Amino acid sequence: MPITFNEKSKIWYLETQNMGYIFGLDNLEKLKNYYWGPKLPRLEDYPTDKDYIVTDRYSWNHEFSTRSENNHVEHCLKVEYFDGVRDVILNYENYINEDNLLIVSLIDAYYGLRVRLFYQLIEEYDIIERWIEVENSSLKPIKIEDIKSASVYLENEKTARLNYLCGMWANEFCLRSEEINEGKKVLESRVGNTGPYLNPYFSIDYEAKEDKGRVYFGLLGWSGNWKIVVQKRIYERIAIVAGINDWDFTYLLEPSQSFITPKLMIGFSNEGFSKASQNLHHYQLDYILPQDKAHKLRKVLYNSWEATTFNVNEENQKQLAQKAAQIGVELFVVDDGWFGKRNSDKAGLGDWYVNPEKFPKGLKPLIDYVKSLGMDFGIWVEPEMVNPDSDLYRNHPDWVINFPNRPRTEQRNQLILNLAREDVKEYIKEFMDKLLTENNIDFIKWDMNRHIFESGWPEVEPNKQREIWVRYVWNLYDIWNYLRKKHPHVTFESCSSGGGRVDLGILRYADQVWTSDNTDPFDRLEIQEGFSYAYAPKIMMAWVTDWGGKDKYPLEYRFHSAMMGSLGIGADLNKFTPDDFAIAKKQVQLYKEIRDIVQEGFQYRLSSVNKERYFAVQYLTKDKNEGVIIYLRNPRKFGLFDRVNIKLKGLEDNYLYGIYEGIKDEEKEIIQLTGKAFKERGFIIEDSYLDFFYNGKSPLFYSRILKVKKID
Ligand code: DGJ
Repeated sequence: MPITFNEKSKIWYLETQNMGYIFGLDNLEKLKNYYWGPKLPRLEDYPTDKDYIVTDRYSWNHEFSTRSENNHVEHCLKVEYFDGVRDVILNYENYINEDNLLIVSLIDAYYGLRVRLFYQLIEEYDIIERWIEVENSSLKPIKIEDIKSASVYLENEKTARLNYLCGMWANEFCLRSEEINEGKKVLESRVGNTGPYLNPYFSIDYEAKEDKGRVYFGLLGWSGNWKIVVQKRIYERIAIVAGINDWDFTYLLEPSQSFITPKLMIGFSNEGFSKASQNLHHYQLDYILPQDKAHKLRKVLYNSWEATTFNVNEENQKQLAQKAAQIGVELFVVDDGWFGKRNSDKAGLGDWYVNPEKFPKGLKPLIDYVKSLGMDFGIWVEPEMVNPDSDLYRNHPDWVINFPNRPRTEQRNQLILNLAREDVKEYIKEFMDKLLTENNIDFIKWDMNRHIFESGWPEVEPNKQREIWVRYVWNLYDIWNYLRKKHPHVTFESCSSGGGRVDLGILRYADQVWTSDNTDPFDRLEIQEGFSYAYAPKIMMAWVTDWGGKDKYPLEYRFHSAMMGSLGIGADLNKFTPDDFAIAKKQVQLYKEIRDIVQEGFQYRLSSVNKERYFAVQYLTKDKNEGVIIYLRNPRKFGLFDRVNIKLKGLEDNYLYGIYEGIKDEEKEIIQLTGKAFKERGFIIEDSYLDFFYNGKSPLFYSRILKVKKID
C-alpha cells in the first residue's frame, strides 16, 4: 500500500518504490514531519515524534509551516484576517486517501480558513507532487501574504550540499553546488516569469556521485515569480519551502473562494544524480508534458531566425525551405519579422496581421510550398508584448503593465500587456485562434522577450493590484490550454529570450522549450549538461548554427552537440557549400536513426564538460538493447592526448554488445565486449588531439557519435 494511515499512532506513511515520506499528528494533534528518505523495510522502522531525530526545541518540524505558534521555520502560509490577526492556527480535520492521492484537511476554525494538503504519489519515479488549496469559508475576505506549495525537511549533516541551476541570457542552466550553512539561501525569480537567472530546481545531496549516494530534489511547476528557501539552524534539520514568491504579492481571498498553489514535485534517489535525473525525465514524459504528443518523436526543425532575422519574406523563406528539405528537415519555422511593421525590434509587436510587403499574398503560398516539400510549417509569435510603435499600443495604451505617474520602462523597445486583465486575455486568445484557424500551421514558437518592471495594475482597487503576478500566469496557462484544445495538431514551444521560461508549469502546455539563444556548439555543452539535471532531452531544442564563426567548429561537431536533445538547424543554408550539404544530410539521417533512443531513452552523463577534457553522454533504451554515445572534445582542458577511455552505464552484464559508427548503410564496427566489460574496463575512443597539436591538420574541436547494440 503506497499510502498507509495508522489510526492508533496517527501517522501517514507514504511510500514509493524506493522512498518513504512520513508525517503524523503529535499528542497536541499538530501535523509534524518525521521523515523523508530511503524506503525502510517495515513501517515501524521510520522515526516518529518519539525519536530524538525529529523532536527539537523550536518546533522545527511542522509538516505545514504557518506564521504562528512559536514557529520560525520559513512559512508556507501567512495571512491577515479582517481584524488584523496574523497568526494562523490550524487544527486537523480529516483526510482522504484515494488512488495514490492523500488529502489532509486542516482548519483555522475561528476564522474559517481551511487548508488542504495534497500528496500525489508517482510510485515508479519516486516522486511526490505536493500542493495546497486554501479556502475561505468565512464571511469576510482574508488577505494572503505568502502561500507556498510545501515544506520539506532533510538531515542536517556536514556533508549536505545544495545544487541549483543559474545563469542569464545566453548562458542558462549552469550547475552550481555549495555547502549548506546556517542561515537562508534564497533561489527566486522576481522578473514575472520563470527567468534565466535561476531555475526552480534544487537538489540536496550527501556526497553523492553520478551513480551512488542520496540525492533529494524538488522542482516547482510555476512560470511566474517563484521562491525556494533553504534554511538551516545549527542543530535542527534543513528546512526547505517552495512556491509562489511572496515578494510584492498579496491576494484577497473572498468568502467561499479558494486558492490552489502550483505543484512542487519532490523526489529522491539512493543511486546518485543519474537516477534522480532519469526519474525526472521519464516522469516529465509520462506525467507532465501534454500527453497527446509526449511520446511522439520530435521532428527535425529548421528555424530561419539566425539566417534572415527580421528580413523575412516569401522568397527568401522559400529558398531556405527548399534547402532545408534537401537535408531532411521535417518542420520549417519562420521566426520573428513576418507581421505588422516589424523590420527591427523597434516596431510592430502587437499588430498580428501578415506584413503585406513581405508576404503580398499572405502566408498561404509559403505554407503550401513548405508542405509541398513534405515539411510541416511553424511560426514565431510573442503575444504578451507590444512595441509602443504599434497600432495596438496606439489604440490601447492602458493595456500594458504600468504604474501611473511612473515611467514605462522598455526592454528591447517593448512593453508588456497586462495579461491579468480579462480583455487582454481574450484579445490574445482571439488573434491566436484566428492565426491558427486561417493558416495551415503545425507549430508555434511562443516567445517572451522582457521582464516585468513597473508591476502596476491601476484599473483594480489597490488591495488587489498585487494579484497581477499570479493572475498573469493563470491567464497565460488558460490561453495555452484553450489553443491546445482548439488546435490539437499544433506543437508548442516555450521560449523566453532562450531558456527564460522553462519549468514544469509551462511544460504542461508546451511540448518543448528553446533552451538558450547561445547556439555556440561548445558553450552549449555546459548549458545542456545543466539542463539535463532537471529536464528531459526530448524537451531540449538544440540548433546547429553558424555561431562562433563558420570555420571554428567542424559541422559534425555542431550537429553532435545539437543531437543531445531534439535536433534543429538554424544555420544560414545559403552559405552552405556542397560539402556542407552532404555532411548535413548524413548527420540528419544519423539523428533520425538514433532519435528514439535520445528522446525516449535513459540518459547517462559520462563526464562533466567543465571538469574533463571531453563531454560524453550515453543514452540507452529501456530494454537495454540499444544505446548511443555522444562524445565531444573539450579543448579548453589542455593536455596532450589521443585517446580516452569511456566506461558505459546501464548495460546488461552478461550480454555481448557491439559499438558501431556511421549511418545505417555505412556502419563500421569498433569493438565488441560484454556489458560488464564495457562498464568495468571501458573502451577507447580515439581522439586525435595530437594531430591538431603538432600539425594543425585535424580540427581543434572533435566529436564522435557511436551506436551501441546488444548482440543476440
Ligand atoms: C528571442 C528568441 O530566443 C530567438 O530565438 C528569436 O526568436 C528572437 N527572440 C526573435 O526576436
